[in-house]
Formats: sequence, C-alpha cells, structure tokens
Amino acid sequence: MLDFLGNINWWQWILIILVLIAIRDIFIQRKHTISHNFPIVGHLRYVLEKIGPELRQYLVANNREELPFNRIERGWIYASAKRENNYEGFGTDRDIYAHHHIFVNNAMMPFKISERHPNTIDKSFLPCAKVIGQYNKRKKPFRPASVINVSAMSFGSLSAKAIESLNKGVRLAGAYHNTGEGGLSPYHSHGGDVIFHFGTGYFGVRDNIGNFSMDKLVQLVEKNPFIKAIEIKLSQGAKPGKGGVLPGAKISHEIAKIRGVEVGKDVLSPPNHSAFSNVSELLDFIEDIAKKTGLPVGIKAAIGKLEQWNELANLMKETGKGPDFITVDGGEGGTGAAPPSFADHVSLPWVYGFSDLYKLFQSKGLVERIVFIGSGKLGFPAKAAMAFAMGVDCINVAREAMMSIGCIQAQVCHTNRCPSGIATQNKWLQNGINIPLKSERLAQYFKTFRKELIEITHAAGYEHPCQFKMSDIEMNVDDHHLSKELNRTYSYEKTAVPFSSMQDLKDCLYLGGNYHTLKS
Ligand SMILES: Cc1cc2nc3c(=O)[nH]c(=O)nc-3n(C[C@H](O)[C@H](O)[C@H](O)COP(=O)(O)O)c2cc1C
Repeated sequence: MLDFLGNINWWQWILIILVLIAIRDIFIQRKHTISHNFPIVGHLRYVLEKIGPELRQYLVANNREELPFNRIERGWIYASAKRENNYEGFGTDRDIYAHHHIFVNNAMMPFKISERHPNTIDKSFLPCAKVIGQYNKRKKPFRPASVINVSAMSFGSLSAKAIESLNKGVRLAGAYHNTGEGGLSPYHSHGGDVIFHFGTGYFGVRDNIGNFSMDKLVQLVEKNPFIKAIEIKLSQGAKPGKGGVLPGAKISHEIAKIRGVEVGKDVLSPPNHSAFSNVSELLDFIEDIAKKTGLPVGIKAAIGKLEQWNELANLMKETGKGPDFITVDGGEGGTGAAPPSFADHVSLPWVYGFSDLYKLFQSKGLVERIVFIGSGKLGFPAKAAMAFAMGVDCINVAREAMMSIGCIQAQVCHTNRCPSGIATQNKWLQNGINIPLKSERLAQYFKTFRKELIEITHAAGYEHPCQFKMSDIEMNVDDHHLSKELNRTYSYEKTAVPFSSMQDLKDCLYLGGNYHTLKS
C-alpha cells in the first residue's frame, strides 16, 4: 500500500484531491447549491466573496468612494497621527460643486494673533469655550481642555491595550476619555481625564440583580478623582432603542470583575433603563447623581422624534434643573456590533438630528445652560467647523481615534477577529499594539486636528471656533445663488457662546487635561 502511495506523483495527488472535493460537493454536502451545481469551481465564489472587501479597499475603490471613511479621510488621520505630511498637492480632488458640499466663508484678512497669545505658544491649545456643570452649580465643574475627545467605547468592545493607548494618548493631548458602557477598567486609569459612561446594563455600577447602584457610583467617583463627569446613555446612533447581549464566552474573570457580572454567563443590556421610566424621573435621576457625586451629569442620545425632548426642555425650564451636557450622536455613528437594519436606518444623521434638537432647546432659551457635544464622523477640522457653527461646544470621536492607533477599517469589530488588535479580546492580535507609540499617535492626531481647526477659525476671522456662526458655512445646492448658509438650510441662528479670549480659557480654574500641572 505504502509502495503504491509512494508511486503517485504530485499531479496525480492534485487530481485525487480535486476528485475528492468534487465528490464531497455533489454527494456529501447539502448546504451550498452553488458548490453542488458547479463542483470545485463553485468554491472560487466563496473565496472571492471573502476577500472582496480587501480587494476593493486596496485596489478597486477610488479615493473618495468608501464608507464609513474613505481613503483620503483615513490617510489624513494616519498621516496626522504619525506626524507625517498630511497635505495634498495640486488642489482638491473633490467635486466641490457636488450637492451637500460645505464651504467655510473665509474673511478678507485672517484673525491675527499676538506674540503672547496662547496659540503662539501652543499652536494646538483649544479648550472648550463652556464649563460643564457651571450653570447648575455642580460642586466640581469641568472645562474640557480639548475640543476633541475620545467617544464612548468600552473595555470589552475594545482590547485592554487599545483602551490603555487611548487613555495615555488623551493624557498627552489634554483631552478626555469616555469609558463607554463596560465600566471603568484599570486601562482607563493612566492619567487622562475620564467621563464615566453607563447605559441600561449599569456595568461597573450595578447591584447583583443588574439594577443601578448609587453607592457603587459614589464609591467609584470618590476612588477615582480623574472622573470629571458622568454620561448616561439613552441611545447611540448605530442602534438606538436596541439592547445588547454580551455573550458568556467573552466574559473573562477580568471583564466580569470590572462590569460587575458573572463569569461565562450571558449578560443582557435591555433597551430600557430600570433606574427611571419617564422624562421627569430621568431629570430626578440626573439631579440625584450630580448631588451625590458633585460631578456634572449629561445624557447621550441619537435623535429621532422630538416629543420627549420637548417634555425635557419644558421640565428644565420649569424646574431650573437639567443635564449639564447633551451628547448628540448621529445615525452614521459606529458601534462594536449592530444589526444593519438599525445601523442603516434608525435615527437621524447628525446634521438633521442636532439641528432639530438645538432649535428646540433654543426656542425655550436653554442652550446657554447646556454644553453640546457632537459625535458622528466629525473628527475632521472642516466638518468640525460646521458642527461648531451649528452649536456644538465639543466633538467626540470613536472610529477616528481607533484609526489613529492603527485601525484599518476592516469592519470586523463584531467578530473578535480585529486584525489590528483594537476591537478584539484575542491576546495574540492585541500583542502587536505598542502602547507608547500608539498613545503618542492619538495625541498627535488630536493636536493636528486642533491646530488645523484653529487655522480654519483664524481664516474665517475668529479666535475660537465657538465664534462660528451659521452664516459662516454654506452648503451646496447646485449653483452659488442657490447654495444656502446653514441658518437658511436648517432655519435657526446659533446662540452666541460667551467668549472673551483664549487667555481666559487658559487661566480658567476648571480647565481639565492636567493643563496647568503640565505647563507649570
Ligand atoms: C467599537 C465601538 C464601540 C462603541 N461603544 C459605545 C458605547 O459603549 N456606548 C456608546 O454610547 N457609544 C458607543 N460607540 C459609539 C461611539 O461612541 C460614537 O458615538 C459613534 O461611533 C460616532 O462617532 P465616530 O463617528 O467618531 O465613530 C461605540 C463605537 C464603536 C466604534
């Protein structure tokens, strides 16, 4: 027998294998019609389908074609993060006459900064123009030292090494780091300002039957003074109104301890909160947390219907209470995992959702009381200028931050097989992440973003992007005479943000980011 097998040469082996595959395709397997009807060659279809996204990304798609982020956008983040040349030569490759293209109206002469101006000393110094929690007189108000910050992404959806890189990166950039829904982990505790975020699962602050525990939250805040604010998630753009299941298989001892759940057991985050069930209870809940922790408290949501927001605004007016900040997430927002029907269709895109909400709060005279934070592909300076013109005070970025630390937009966050080690718990894949290098890259991306946003602001004749008005940005609707400024497109004027000077922001007692400690 061995002699016989030994006498079969290589091409005969190939033939035998092909015959065996054909037999399997036709007579044994019953799942795939294509392989049955086209034995052997049918497999090519599955191979091409599997590697199609990579082929398109690297070879076929043009520079501006892909979504969520096209090659030019990704390239700008990579180059900015690596401190490489992020300019483009020979002029724009965008069709600037295209529908919905935005233009920033520049001034005849740009804003001039003096020799002693904070931006002469530090070209990327760009704190938030509002203090979170000031209106409501919270015990510990907070002025974010950076207008760009890391959006909610949990330890669990991201790897330990990715979270640690982001936290060390925000420390270097003076920004804040939102924990996402998975609780506060040791990887969030490397010196950056932190916004503690929780959703319906109350991970990290839940009792043993899964309800919210105020005692645990108070203890957490007392133990970790770098927590500067609390964010209650009502919904997020990629899956509003959808709960989630964290499969038991993903719950290691470490994740179980941090989230306050049992090892190896599926954990449900329901669509609804159990701590409140209507708008007025939400308001009481916010007040209660703010009182017990002393911290500013905000809410995060994707926008659709406005009735309950209207109720919230009315109650805020009546009671004088309310959230210190509102994070508006766009329907274009990312997630670790969501059904496409939700990610593609539920909730409004950022510009529509934000403009609806801002207008509503403005009509009740409430915008000065709130710090507005925007998220949804806003991590690019010109887009951020538009968002500031519409009324945001800060930007949160999730996927852009991931890209700055090496994400290649493989879009497999939901499979635990992220090739860059960022959105996976696989130890081998995480091992490639060099934390000091990646944290430096996040910081560099944030600094470059701020520097370019400052330059656009100066080009428009202003000192701080909070001074952008709706009429400074135009949106193309075919001909220049038909293109409309944002105020005419979205039918409101932004309420002016009180701003004296960048120097005053620099001297502010509540300025975060360890800015005073680092600079002294
Ligand atoms: C991997 C991943 C995990 C996320 N986890 C959360 C979360 O725990 N809570 C939340 O409110 N949003 C979560 N988000 C949404 C982001 O915080 C952000 O709102 C959204 O992606 C829009 O920002 P971007 O366009 O800059 O990515 C997550 C997004 C990603 C990509």
